[in-house]
Amino acid sequence: MPIPYAGIAQFPTLRLRRMRRDEFSRRLMRENDLTLNDLIYPLFVMEGKQQRVAIASMPDQFRLSIDELIKEAEELVKLGVPAIALFPVVPPAKKSLDAQEAYHPEGLAQRAVRAVKSNFPQLGVITDVALDPFTTHGQDGLIDNTSYVMNDETVEVLVKQALSHAQAGADIVAPSDMMDGRVGRIRQALEAAGFKNTQILAYSAKYASSFYGPFRDAVGSAGALGTNNKYSYQMDPANSDEALREVALDLQEGADIIMIKPGMPYLDIVQRVKTIFNAPLFVYQVSGEYAMLKAAAQNGWLAESAVMMESLLSIKRAGANGILTYFAKAAAQYLQSTREI
Ligand code: PBG
Repeated sequence: MPIPYAGIAQFPTLRLRRMRRDEFSRRLMRENDLTLNDLIYPLFVMEGKQQRVAIASMPDQFRLSIDELIKEAEELVKLGVPAIALFPVVPPAKKSLDAQEAYHPEGLAQRAVRAVKSNFPQLGVITDVALDPFTTHGQDGLIDNTSYVMNDETVEVLVKQALSHAQAGADIVAPSDMMDGRVGRIRQALEAAGFKNTQILAYSAKYASSFYGPFRDAVGSAGALGTNNKYSYQMDPANSDEALREVALDLQEGADIIMIKPGMPYLDIVQRVKTIFNAPLFVYQVSGEYAMLKAAAQNGWLAESAVMMESLLSIKRAGANGILTYFAKAAAQYLQSTREI
């Protein structure tokens, strides 16, 4: 965008610092704000009772059994956080080559959704549609005998998984697998089964990022994946135009919301996508981004609340309408504690 009067008004007529001197005018000219309405909290759910297991590489984040998840949900509702995203930690015995646990009506994710929605119907619940927690090899899909992740066969299973989440009461199903054509197939299946209002949040531009490491520890897929990678389906970090093609496809196939992931290293993509498509856009500030900021804060190298808010605001400024962030609860608490009258 051209700056209309650049070159006309000059120093000292124009002193940009005038507006910055006082808090009142800094507030009035503020272009972007982070509010409660932007926050989505990703949570890890595990089997058992009264389990609250710390995740070493993600300080202050826990794997929660369903009863503890309900307590957490209650706090989030009180704080005014609009939605959570659930990620199951699946016991090794339930993992298989065909990932059939992914669509078990009594699976961990399905039970967790039902429990949250029956206690807090007003809290939005997002579920992850991908097979990595359920496969013995930790890939997001079914593999052939060369270990290649098969697209169309995987999509069949993802459709079953998404339907089972909708049946359990998920408000939003979020395919994070990067198979081609999965949004369209999931949309058709949801329509056919009467789930007209189940939203699809498409991880449209999900990069093959090394910032997912702590997440893979948290859900226990890191060991299964070993030294293998996800380069044959997640996007190359070098690419930007390709993200636009992914987004266009997902919107055509019926996505209600598109997502870019990770967050801070990909804000150029966020801005391009927002400008071009002007569709509801979420950004995932991923586990590695969280781990970096927390580690520096724990060492006293960064001021935690300040960098938390700055990192989230930068994502908002780039064009995000919602942010999945492990800081969601802390940011909500911070917003509550600093609320201006
Ligand atoms: C799995 C999935 C991943 C994340 C969300 N869903 C990991 C991966 O693709 O390996 C990462 C989230 C994070 O790092 O916080 N499909």
